[in-house]
Amino acid sequence: MKLAVVGGGSTYTPELIDGFARLRDTLPVGELVLIDPATERLELIGGLARRIFARQGHPGRVTTTSDLDAGIAGADAVLLQLRVGGQAARLRDETWPLECGCVGQETTGAGGLAKALRTVPVVLDIAERVRRTNPDAWIIDFTNPVGIVTRALLQAGHKAVGLCNVAIGLQRKFAALLDLAPADIHLDHVGLNHLTWELGVRRGGPDGEDLLPGLLAAHGEAVAGDLRLPRAVLDRLGVVPSYYLRYFYAHDEVVRELGTKPSRAAEVAAMERELLALYGNPALDEKPALLAKRGGAFYSEAAVDLAASLLGDGGSAVQVVNTYNNGTLPFLPDDAVIEVPARVGGSGAVPLAVPRLDPLFSGLIAHVSAYEDLALDAALRGGRERVFTALLAHPLIGQFDLAEGLTDRLLAHNKEHLPWA
Ligand code: G6P
Ligand code: MN
Repeated sequence: MKLAVVGGGSTYTPELIDGFARLRDTLPVGELVLIDPATERLELIGGLARRIFARQGHPGRVTTTSDLDAGIAGADAVLLQLRVGGQAARLRDETWPLECGCVGQETTGAGGLAKALRTVPVVLDIAERVRRTNPDAWIIDFTNPVGIVTRALLQAGHKAVGLCNVAIGLQRKFAALLDLAPADIHLDHVGLNHLTWELGVRRGGPDGEDLLPGLLAAHGEAVAGDLRLPRAVLDRLGVVPSYYLRYFYAHDEVVRELGTKPSRAAEVAAMERELLALYGNPALDEKPALLAKRGGAFYSEAAVDLAASLLGDGGSAVQVVNTYNNGTLPFLPDDAVIEVPARVGGSGAVPLAVPRLDPLFSGLIAHVSAYEDLALDAALRGGRERVFTALLAHPLIGQFDLAEGLTDRLLAHNKEHLPWA
Protein backbone atom coordinates (compact mmCIF):
# COMPACT_ATOMS: atom_id res chain seq x y z
CA MET A 1 0.00 0.00 0.00
CA LYS A 2 1.27 3.47 -0.90
CA LEU A 3 0.22 6.61 0.93
CA ALA A 4 1.10 10.13 -0.13
CA VAL A 5 1.16 13.12 2.23
CA VAL A 6 0.83 16.50 0.54
CA GLY A 7 2.39 19.03 2.91
CA GLY A 8 4.70 16.26 4.16
CA GLY A 9 7.31 18.87 5.09
CA SER A 10 5.05 20.12 7.90
CA THR A 11 6.52 20.12 11.41
CA TYR A 12 3.44 18.04 12.28
CA THR A 13 4.53 15.13 10.07
CA PRO A 14 6.49 13.22 12.77
CA GLU A 15 3.16 12.87 14.63
CA LEU A 16 1.76 11.16 11.57
CA ILE A 17 4.85 8.99 11.09
CA ASP A 18 4.75 7.94 14.73
CA GLY A 19 1.14 6.80 14.23
CA PHE A 20 1.96 4.89 11.04
CA ALA A 21 4.91 3.22 12.78
CA ARG A 22 2.98 2.22 15.91
CA LEU A 23 -0.20 1.17 14.17
CA ARG A 24 1.34 -0.82 11.31
CA ASP A 25 -0.90 -3.81 12.01
CA THR A 26 -3.98 -1.69 11.39
CA LEU A 27 -2.47 -0.03 8.32
CA PRO A 28 0.38 -1.86 6.60
CA VAL A 29 2.05 0.94 4.65
CA GLY A 30 4.61 -0.26 2.09
CA GLU A 31 5.59 3.21 0.88
CA LEU A 32 4.95 6.57 2.43
CA VAL A 33 5.81 9.50 0.22
CA LEU A 34 6.14 12.96 1.71
CA ILE A 35 5.46 15.69 -0.84
CA ASP A 36 6.33 19.34 -0.25
CA PRO A 37 7.68 22.25 -2.27
CA ALA A 38 9.98 23.27 0.63
CA THR A 39 12.88 20.95 -0.19
CA GLU A 40 15.12 21.71 2.78
CA ARG A 41 12.38 21.12 5.32
CA LEU A 42 11.26 18.05 3.45
CA GLU A 43 14.69 16.45 3.69
CA LEU A 44 14.88 17.23 7.37
CA ILE A 45 11.46 15.71 8.07
CA GLY A 46 12.09 12.81 5.67
CA GLY A 47 15.29 11.91 7.51
CA LEU A 48 13.54 11.88 10.87
CA ALA A 49 10.64 9.89 9.41
CA ARG A 50 13.05 7.19 8.22
CA ARG A 51 14.69 7.05 11.64
CA ILE A 52 11.30 6.70 13.36
CA PHE A 53 10.34 3.84 11.01
CA ALA A 54 13.72 2.17 11.57
CA ARG A 55 13.55 2.48 15.36
CA GLN A 56 10.11 0.88 15.38
CA GLY A 57 11.21 -1.84 12.96
CA HIS A 58 8.72 -0.70 10.32
CA PRO A 59 9.50 -2.46 7.02
CA GLY A 60 7.96 0.33 4.87
CA ARG A 61 9.90 2.90 2.83
CA VAL A 62 9.72 6.64 3.36
CA THR A 63 10.42 8.68 0.24
CA THR A 64 10.35 12.43 -0.40
CA THR A 65 9.66 14.55 -3.46
CA SER A 66 8.73 18.06 -4.48
CA ASP A 67 7.13 16.76 -7.66
CA LEU A 68 3.44 16.36 -6.85
CA ASP A 69 2.56 14.22 -9.86
CA ALA A 70 5.45 11.84 -9.26
CA GLY A 71 4.61 11.60 -5.56
CA ILE A 72 0.94 10.77 -5.99
CA ALA A 73 1.54 8.24 -8.80
CA GLY A 74 0.22 4.87 -7.66
CA ALA A 75 -0.93 6.13 -4.24
CA ASP A 76 -3.94 4.37 -2.70
CA ALA A 77 -4.71 7.37 -0.51
CA VAL A 78 -3.53 10.96 -0.48
CA LEU A 79 -3.51 12.93 2.76
CA LEU A 80 -3.76 16.68 2.41
CA GLN A 81 -2.21 18.72 5.22
CA LEU A 82 -1.04 21.88 3.57
CA ARG A 83 -1.13 25.49 4.65
CA VAL A 84 -1.20 28.02 1.81
CA GLY A 85 0.95 30.99 2.80
CA GLY A 86 2.39 29.19 5.85
CA GLN A 87 2.38 30.54 9.39
CA ALA A 88 2.88 34.08 8.04
CA ALA A 89 -0.58 34.00 6.45
CA ARG A 90 -2.00 32.48 9.62
CA LEU A 91 -0.53 35.31 11.66
CA ARG A 92 -2.37 37.81 9.49
CA ASP A 93 -5.65 35.83 9.78
CA GLU A 94 -5.32 36.00 13.54
CA THR A 95 -4.51 39.70 13.62
CA TRP A 96 -6.54 41.96 11.33
CA PRO A 97 -10.01 40.82 12.50
CA LEU A 98 -9.07 42.10 15.98
CA GLU A 99 -8.88 45.65 14.55
CA CYS A 100 -12.64 45.35 14.01
CA GLY A 101 -13.33 43.86 17.45
CA CYS A 102 -13.74 40.36 16.00
CA VAL A 103 -12.04 37.14 16.97
CA GLY A 104 -8.76 36.51 15.13
CA GLN A 105 -8.60 32.76 14.53
CA GLU A 106 -7.34 30.55 11.75
CA THR A 107 -10.60 28.68 11.12
CA THR A 108 -13.36 30.61 12.90
CA GLY A 109 -14.80 33.90 11.65
CA ALA A 110 -13.18 36.26 9.15
CA GLY A 111 -9.68 34.72 9.46
CA GLY A 112 -11.18 31.33 8.62
CA LEU A 113 -12.79 32.82 5.50
CA ALA A 114 -9.43 34.20 4.39
CA LYS A 115 -7.92 30.75 4.84
CA ALA A 116 -10.75 29.15 2.86
CA LEU A 117 -10.30 31.61 -0.02
CA ARG A 118 -6.57 30.92 -0.23
CA THR A 119 -6.89 27.17 0.18
CA VAL A 120 -9.86 25.88 -1.82
CA PRO A 121 -8.39 26.55 -5.31
CA VAL A 122 -5.06 24.98 -4.36
CA VAL A 123 -6.67 21.85 -2.91
CA LEU A 124 -9.00 21.47 -5.90
CA ASP A 125 -6.03 21.66 -8.25
CA ILE A 126 -4.22 18.94 -6.31
CA ALA A 127 -7.36 16.79 -6.21
CA GLU A 128 -7.76 17.09 -10.00
CA ARG A 129 -4.23 15.83 -10.42
CA VAL A 130 -4.91 12.94 -8.04
CA ARG A 131 -8.03 12.03 -10.04
CA ARG A 132 -6.10 12.13 -13.32
CA THR A 133 -3.32 9.91 -11.98
CA ASN A 134 -5.22 7.56 -9.66
CA PRO A 135 -8.99 7.78 -10.15
CA ASP A 136 -9.56 5.23 -7.36
CA ALA A 137 -7.45 6.91 -4.69
CA TRP A 138 -9.08 8.30 -1.56
CA ILE A 139 -8.36 11.87 -0.51
CA ILE A 140 -8.21 12.41 3.25
CA ASP A 141 -8.40 16.09 3.99
CA PHE A 142 -6.91 17.58 7.15
CA THR A 143 -6.43 20.91 5.45
CA ASN A 144 -8.38 23.62 7.21
CA PRO A 145 -11.00 24.88 7.14
CA VAL A 146 -11.91 21.21 6.85
CA GLY A 147 -15.69 21.67 6.49
CA ILE A 148 -15.43 24.10 3.57
CA VAL A 149 -12.52 22.30 1.90
CA THR A 150 -14.30 18.93 2.11
CA ARG A 151 -17.46 20.46 0.67
CA ALA A 152 -15.40 21.83 -2.22
CA LEU A 153 -13.87 18.41 -2.85
CA LEU A 154 -17.17 16.53 -2.70
CA GLN A 155 -18.97 19.04 -4.92
CA ALA A 156 -16.23 18.58 -7.52
CA GLY A 157 -16.95 14.85 -7.41
CA HIS A 158 -13.79 13.71 -5.62
CA LYS A 159 -13.49 10.61 -3.43
CA ALA A 160 -12.83 12.59 -0.27
CA VAL A 161 -13.38 12.48 3.47
CA GLY A 162 -12.57 15.33 5.86
CA LEU A 163 -10.85 14.68 9.17
CA CYS A 164 -10.17 16.61 12.38
CA ASN A 165 -8.69 15.54 15.70
CA VAL A 166 -11.18 17.27 18.03
CA ALA A 167 -13.38 14.18 18.48
CA ILE A 168 -10.53 11.71 18.93
CA GLY A 169 -8.94 14.10 21.45
CA LEU A 170 -12.13 14.28 23.51
CA GLN A 171 -12.63 10.53 23.24
CA ARG A 172 -9.19 10.01 24.81
CA LYS A 173 -9.74 12.68 27.45
CA PHE A 174 -13.11 11.23 28.50
CA ALA A 175 -11.78 7.66 28.45
CA ALA A 176 -8.97 8.63 30.83
CA LEU A 177 -11.40 10.37 33.20
CA LEU A 178 -13.73 7.36 33.15
CA ASP A 179 -10.89 4.87 33.41
CA LEU A 180 -11.90 3.15 30.18
CA ALA A 181 -10.08 2.39 26.94
CA PRO A 182 -10.69 4.98 24.19
CA ALA A 183 -12.09 2.26 21.91
CA ASP A 184 -14.73 1.52 24.57
CA ILE A 185 -16.20 4.98 24.25
CA HIS A 186 -18.51 6.22 21.53
CA LEU A 187 -19.16 9.95 21.26
CA ASP A 188 -22.51 11.33 20.12
CA HIS A 189 -20.55 14.05 18.33
CA VAL A 190 -22.58 16.42 16.18
CA GLY A 191 -22.21 19.63 14.22
CA LEU A 192 -19.85 21.10 11.66
CA ASN A 193 -16.05 20.97 11.73
CA HIS A 194 -14.87 23.17 14.62
CA LEU A 195 -18.51 23.71 15.68
CA THR A 196 -19.46 20.55 17.52
CA TRP A 197 -21.00 19.30 20.72
CA GLU A 198 -20.75 15.94 22.48
CA LEU A 199 -24.38 15.11 23.24
CA GLY A 200 -23.56 11.77 24.78
CA VAL A 201 -20.60 9.62 25.81
CA ARG A 202 -21.61 6.00 25.37
CA ARG A 203 -20.14 2.84 26.75
CA GLY A 204 -19.17 0.32 24.08
CA GLY A 205 -20.89 1.82 21.04
CA PRO A 206 -23.68 3.99 19.63
CA ASP A 207 -26.37 2.10 21.58
CA GLY A 208 -24.50 1.89 24.87
CA GLU A 209 -25.33 3.50 28.19
CA ASP A 210 -24.81 7.29 28.25
CA LEU A 211 -22.01 8.09 30.68
CA LEU A 212 -22.08 11.86 30.06
CA PRO A 213 -24.26 12.88 33.05
CA GLY A 214 -21.99 10.93 35.40
CA LEU A 215 -18.87 12.27 33.70
CA LEU A 216 -20.04 15.86 34.14
CA ALA A 217 -21.05 15.27 37.75
CA ALA A 218 -17.69 13.75 38.65
CA HIS A 219 -15.31 15.65 36.35
CA GLY A 220 -17.21 18.72 35.14
CA GLU A 221 -14.55 21.02 36.56
CA ALA A 222 -11.71 19.28 34.72
CA VAL A 223 -13.60 19.15 31.42
CA ALA A 224 -14.62 22.82 31.65
CA GLY A 225 -11.07 23.82 32.64
CA ASP A 226 -9.69 22.20 29.50
CA LEU A 227 -12.16 24.08 27.34
CA ARG A 228 -11.45 27.29 29.25
CA LEU A 229 -15.19 27.73 29.78
CA PRO A 230 -16.98 28.17 33.12
CA ARG A 231 -18.30 24.92 34.55
CA ALA A 232 -21.80 26.45 34.52
CA VAL A 233 -21.75 26.52 30.71
CA LEU A 234 -21.48 22.72 30.61
CA ASP A 235 -24.04 22.21 33.36
CA ARG A 236 -26.57 24.49 31.70
CA LEU A 237 -26.04 23.13 28.17
CA GLY A 238 -26.01 19.57 29.53
CA VAL A 239 -23.52 18.66 26.77
CA VAL A 240 -19.84 19.28 26.08
CA PRO A 241 -19.04 21.87 23.40
CA SER A 242 -15.71 21.69 21.58
CA TYR A 243 -13.17 24.34 22.51
CA TYR A 244 -13.95 26.14 19.26
CA LEU A 245 -17.36 27.01 20.71
CA ARG A 246 -15.53 29.30 23.13
CA TYR A 247 -15.13 31.70 20.19
CA PHE A 248 -18.92 31.94 20.19
CA TYR A 249 -19.94 31.54 23.85
CA ALA A 250 -17.16 33.84 25.09
CA HIS A 251 -16.40 35.84 21.94
CA ASP A 252 -15.80 39.24 23.54
CA GLU A 253 -13.73 37.76 26.33
CA VAL A 254 -11.55 35.96 23.75
CA VAL A 255 -11.11 39.20 21.75
CA ARG A 256 -9.97 41.00 24.93
CA GLU A 257 -7.55 38.18 25.72
CA LEU A 258 -6.13 38.09 22.20
CA GLY A 259 -5.40 41.81 22.50
CA THR A 260 -3.09 41.18 25.43
CA LYS A 261 -0.97 38.20 24.41
CA PRO A 262 1.04 36.91 21.45
CA SER A 263 -1.00 35.23 18.75
CA ARG A 264 -1.13 31.45 18.45
CA ALA A 265 0.65 31.84 15.09
CA ALA A 266 3.59 33.52 16.83
CA GLU A 267 3.70 30.78 19.49
CA VAL A 268 3.57 28.10 16.81
CA ALA A 269 6.28 29.81 14.74
CA ALA A 270 8.59 29.79 17.79
CA MET A 271 7.79 26.12 18.45
CA GLU A 272 8.44 25.31 14.80
CA ARG A 273 11.91 26.82 14.98
CA GLU A 274 12.65 24.67 18.02
CA LEU A 275 11.15 21.57 16.42
CA LEU A 276 13.15 21.98 13.22
CA ALA A 277 16.35 22.28 15.24
CA LEU A 278 15.46 19.05 17.08
CA TYR A 279 14.55 17.25 13.85
CA GLY A 280 17.99 18.06 12.44
CA ASN A 281 19.68 16.01 15.15
CA PRO A 282 20.61 12.67 13.52
CA ALA A 283 20.35 10.94 16.93
CA LEU A 284 16.65 11.78 17.26
CA ASP A 285 14.53 8.80 16.21
CA GLU A 286 11.18 9.46 17.86
CA LYS A 287 8.54 12.17 17.95
CA PRO A 288 9.78 14.86 20.38
CA ALA A 289 7.66 15.72 23.44
CA LEU A 290 7.43 19.35 22.29
CA LEU A 291 5.15 18.26 19.45
CA ALA A 292 2.46 17.46 22.02
CA LYS A 293 2.09 21.23 22.58
CA ARG A 294 0.63 21.57 19.10
CA GLY A 295 -3.13 21.32 18.65
CA GLY A 296 -2.99 18.24 16.44
CA ALA A 297 -2.45 15.56 19.08
CA PHE A 298 -3.78 12.14 17.99
CA TYR A 299 -4.46 13.20 14.42
CA SER A 300 -2.18 10.37 13.32
CA GLU A 301 -4.41 7.82 15.02
CA ALA A 302 -7.53 9.26 13.43
CA ALA A 303 -5.75 9.20 10.05
CA VAL A 304 -4.53 5.61 10.37
CA ASP A 305 -7.97 4.44 11.41
CA LEU A 306 -9.68 6.27 8.59
CA ALA A 307 -7.22 5.18 5.90
CA ALA A 308 -7.49 1.57 7.12
CA SER A 309 -11.28 1.66 6.90
CA LEU A 310 -11.35 3.33 3.49
CA LEU A 311 -8.76 0.99 2.04
CA GLY A 312 -10.56 -2.01 3.44
CA ASP A 313 -7.81 -3.26 5.71
CA GLY A 314 -9.32 -2.74 9.12
CA GLY A 315 -9.81 0.39 11.22
CA SER A 316 -12.79 1.09 13.45
CA ALA A 317 -16.16 0.64 11.85
CA VAL A 318 -17.46 3.95 13.20
CA GLN A 319 -15.41 7.14 13.01
CA VAL A 320 -16.10 10.83 13.31
CA VAL A 321 -15.59 12.35 9.86
CA ASN A 322 -16.64 15.24 7.65
CA THR A 323 -18.94 14.17 4.87
CA TYR A 324 -22.16 15.09 3.04
CA ASN A 325 -25.18 15.60 5.28
CA ASN A 326 -27.55 13.63 3.02
CA GLY A 327 -30.53 14.13 5.33
CA THR A 328 -28.73 13.32 8.59
CA LEU A 329 -29.50 16.78 9.96
CA PRO A 330 -32.90 17.45 8.36
CA PHE A 331 -32.58 21.23 8.74
CA LEU A 332 -29.53 21.35 6.43
CA PRO A 333 -29.26 20.81 2.68
CA ASP A 334 -28.09 17.36 1.60
CA ASP A 335 -24.86 18.78 0.19
CA ALA A 336 -23.85 20.57 3.37
CA VAL A 337 -20.83 18.94 5.00
CA ILE A 338 -21.30 17.88 8.61
CA GLU A 339 -19.01 16.33 11.22
CA VAL A 340 -20.59 13.26 12.82
CA PRO A 341 -19.86 9.61 13.56
CA ALA A 342 -20.15 7.61 10.34
CA ARG A 343 -19.81 4.03 9.29
CA VAL A 344 -16.72 3.97 7.10
CA GLY A 345 -15.78 1.32 4.58
CA GLY A 346 -14.33 0.85 1.11
CA SER A 347 -17.13 2.86 -0.47
CA GLY A 348 -16.84 5.82 1.88
CA ALA A 349 -18.55 7.25 4.94
CA VAL A 350 -22.24 6.98 5.80
CA PRO A 351 -23.33 9.08 8.80
CA LEU A 352 -25.12 7.33 11.66
CA ALA A 353 -28.60 8.65 12.45
CA VAL A 354 -28.68 11.69 14.74
CA PRO A 355 -31.67 12.30 17.05
CA ARG A 356 -33.59 15.57 16.67
CA LEU A 357 -31.40 18.41 17.91
CA ASP A 358 -32.37 21.12 20.35
CA PRO A 359 -32.83 24.45 18.49
CA LEU A 360 -30.01 25.86 20.64
CA PHE A 361 -27.64 23.71 18.58
CA SER A 362 -29.47 23.33 15.26
CA GLY A 363 -29.87 27.12 14.97
CA LEU A 364 -26.16 27.83 15.21
CA ILE A 365 -25.27 24.87 12.98
CA ALA A 366 -27.68 26.08 10.29
CA HIS A 367 -26.33 29.63 10.54
CA VAL A 368 -22.68 28.60 10.20
CA SER A 369 -23.49 26.07 7.48
CA ALA A 370 -25.12 28.87 5.45
CA TYR A 371 -21.96 30.92 5.92
CA GLU A 372 -19.88 27.95 4.71
CA ASP A 373 -22.03 27.69 1.60
CA LEU A 374 -21.39 31.37 0.80
CA ALA A 375 -17.73 31.08 1.76
CA LEU A 376 -17.27 28.25 -0.73
CA ASP A 377 -19.02 30.28 -3.41
CA ALA A 378 -16.59 33.15 -2.73
CA ALA A 379 -13.61 30.78 -2.83
CA LEU A 380 -14.70 29.25 -6.14
CA ARG A 381 -15.81 32.36 -7.98
CA GLY A 382 -13.97 35.20 -6.23
CA GLY A 383 -15.15 38.80 -6.11
CA ARG A 384 -15.38 41.37 -3.34
CA GLU A 385 -19.16 41.15 -3.07
CA ARG A 386 -19.11 37.40 -2.47
CA VAL A 387 -16.52 37.84 0.27
CA PHE A 388 -18.65 40.56 1.85
CA THR A 389 -21.79 38.40 1.66
CA ALA A 390 -20.09 35.45 3.33
CA LEU A 391 -18.84 37.68 6.15
CA LEU A 392 -22.27 39.27 6.59
CA ALA A 393 -23.76 35.76 6.89
CA HIS A 394 -21.39 34.73 9.67
CA PRO A 395 -23.11 34.69 13.09
CA LEU A 396 -20.08 36.35 14.73
CA ILE A 397 -20.22 39.25 12.23
CA GLY A 398 -23.72 39.94 10.89
CA GLN A 399 -23.49 43.75 10.72
CA PHE A 400 -23.14 45.62 7.44
CA ASP A 401 -20.39 48.06 8.47
CA LEU A 402 -18.43 45.38 10.24
CA ALA A 403 -18.57 43.11 7.20
CA GLU A 404 -17.36 46.02 5.01
CA GLY A 405 -14.38 46.74 7.25
CA LEU A 406 -13.45 43.06 7.44
CA THR A 407 -13.79 42.63 3.67
CA ASP A 408 -11.37 45.51 3.02
CA ARG A 409 -8.85 44.07 5.43
CA LEU A 410 -9.18 40.49 4.21
CA LEU A 411 -8.55 41.52 0.61
CA ALA A 412 -5.69 43.88 1.46
CA HIS A 413 -3.89 41.18 3.47
CA ASN A 414 -4.35 38.36 0.94
CA LYS A 415 -3.62 39.97 -2.44
CA GLU A 416 -0.68 37.69 -3.22
CA HIS A 417 -2.86 34.58 -2.78
CA LEU A 418 -6.05 35.78 -4.49
CA PRO A 419 -5.44 36.48 -8.17
CA TRP A 420 -8.86 38.12 -8.53
CA ALA A 421 -8.46 40.53 -5.57
C1 G6P B 1 -6.57 21.37 16.35
C2 G6P B 1 -7.51 21.46 15.22
C3 G6P B 1 -6.75 21.57 13.93
C4 G6P B 1 -5.81 22.74 13.99
C5 G6P B 1 -4.90 22.61 15.19
C6 G6P B 1 -4.08 23.87 15.38
O1 G6P B 1 -5.87 20.19 16.23
O2 G6P B 1 -8.38 20.37 15.14
O3 G6P B 1 -7.65 21.69 12.87
O4 G6P B 1 -5.04 22.81 12.81
O5 G6P B 1 -5.65 22.44 16.35
O6 G6P B 1 -3.01 23.57 16.21
P1 G6P B 1 -1.79 24.57 16.33
O7 G6P B 1 -0.81 23.91 17.22
O8 G6P B 1 -1.27 24.81 14.92
O9 G6P B 1 -2.35 25.83 16.92
MN1 MN C 1 -9.44 20.46 13.26
